[in-house]
Amino acid sequence: MPEATPTFYLTTPIYYVNDAPHIGHAYTTVAADVITRWHRQRQEPVWFLTGTDEHGQKVMRTAEANGTSPQEWADRLVETAWKPVLKTLDVRNDDFIRTTQERHETRVQAFIQDLYDKGEIYAGSYEGPYCVGCEEYKLPGDLVDGTGEYEGIKVCAIHGIPVEMLSEENYFFRMSAYTQRLLDFYEANPTFVQPPSARNEVISFVKQGLQDLSISRNTFDWGIPIPWDTSHVLYVWFDALLNYATAVGLDSDDPADKEQFARTWPPSVHLVGKDILRFHAVIWPAMLMAAGLPLPGQVFAHGWLLVGGEKMSKSKLTGIAPSSIIDTFGSDAFRFYFLRAIVFGQDGSFSWEDLHARYTAELANGFGNLASRVAAMIGKYFGGTLPDAGPLTPAEEHVAAVAARAAVDAEAAIDRLALNEAIAAIWTLVETTNGYLTEQEPWKVAKDPAEVDAAGASVPGGRLATILVTAAEALRALAVLLAPVIPKAAEALWESLGAEPVLGPLAAQPVADAGRFGQLPAGTVVTKGASLFPRIEEPAAS
Ligand code: MSP
Repeated sequence: MPEATPTFYLTTPIYYVNDAPHIGHAYTTVAADVITRWHRQRQEPVWFLTGTDEHGQKVMRTAEANGTSPQEWADRLVETAWKPVLKTLDVRNDDFIRTTQERHETRVQAFIQDLYDKGEIYAGSYEGPYCVGCEEYKLPGDLVDGTGEYEGIKVCAIHGIPVEMLSEENYFFRMSAYTQRLLDFYEANPTFVQPPSARNEVISFVKQGLQDLSISRNTFDWGIPIPWDTSHVLYVWFDALLNYATAVGLDSDDPADKEQFARTWPPSVHLVGKDILRFHAVIWPAMLMAAGLPLPGQVFAHGWLLVGGEKMSKSKLTGIAPSSIIDTFGSDAFRFYFLRAIVFGQDGSFSWEDLHARYTAELANGFGNLASRVAAMIGKYFGGTLPDAGPLTPAEEHVAAVAARAAVDAEAAIDRLALNEAIAAIWTLVETTNGYLTEQEPWKVAKDPAEVDAAGASVPGGRLATILVTAAEALRALAVLLAPVIPKAAEALWESLGAEPVLGPLAAQPVADAGRFGQLPAGTVVTKGASLFPRIEEPAAS
């Protein structure tokens, strides 16, 4: 029996429920959705997990400030903000984990009990600065001089807020013992941390030597109780990282969970923002090594969306809600814009002007217009039925070659998570097809007497038919290649091309076959649907 294809298991960070999502969170989630949809389009088994991180002081304090319990606060935010945003973004996740779910809490307890029994955890005491924004103990080198109201004191470099001095009895994870094993692992697995800048940062951090990690708190109770000492709750990051394993059935006795764990583990990719790289590339693999579990394939750290040169964040009041963009431009344009305009792995700035300019040039004029004029011409000259093509010339062969190359290049780019490069590769086909129509001028060819019969109707098998069939094939390829990025427009295009009755559903079209021309048979019924990307007025300057 051939080996079953392994499941492509991808995760996003689980987001803190202290506030509603902004476009920075949406950026990670959309990237994850595009990658997993791409793997689905390859017809691979996929598992896509996202969710929420609900314990810890940050959430607890927000709930208190709002006069409610942390659980009620988390429930409210999850139901009114974090789950709905997935729909707004058109995200197709397979599961949504909340760290307050019973499945998570019991499995986390089993995991840490096991580490404790193995001697990986010991009791000690800790004193040092803690940033509640990061939920992390800081090293003196992590702090910077405060400005404005915090002039004269040291603050967290990420949040710009003062740290708190903590002095507690804690349980510690023997992370220092993993320094060399981690370095050996990075060495043997050069793509474990990506992009290369992130890998270099992690390696130089670990090379300084790791300290043991404080993994419990006993001054508040909003967390998972330590099973052997319930006066402590588990440190929120230890709790949160384990979601990737508990969600797919770690330490469950249920046969269905066991089967899922065997099928899914280990994760293929953890997608994270660069702010939380060390947790994922250092602490998390050390935890898994301690437990004797296989390690993930990759941790990929993308850059930040910046506002005024700083990380967009709610705490700095620079957060923009995804709906403020999507209400005007739609979810497809949102997905396209952020992945097309920013090099995945680097920081990028968002501006309404740039969004509008790209929307107009690339989606409305470039792609949307191509789709509507090809459908309109097939309607006008052939009554909406795809004709038989005539002999191919080098011009058609060029379009077909560009399509084949676009599919191959996009595949390779996706495997490197170079999402912007994948879209750029696909866009060569949009541009080539537009250029082909401009050169071939089918509207002029249509007037050639050799192209019409005695009744004045365009004839199949002629030049006009060849041009329009070629353009229709390019659109078919584009529908498949763009389905992961702009799923709604791709579905609408598939429908307009009349492709489903002859080729089956869009979701069933393998990426590997997308660039092959000659798939839409003569007789396919093409209709001109609504405009895929209607023009939008320029936003008022703010
Ligand atoms: N709860 C932790 C993660 C635990 S994972 C086991 C956390 N949550 S968070 O709500 O702060 O979300 C952080 C993630 O949101 C970042 O790693 C990144 O993926 C995304 N982003 C938040 N702000 C962002 C930007 N301004 N730009 C890009 N991504 C951003 O950390």
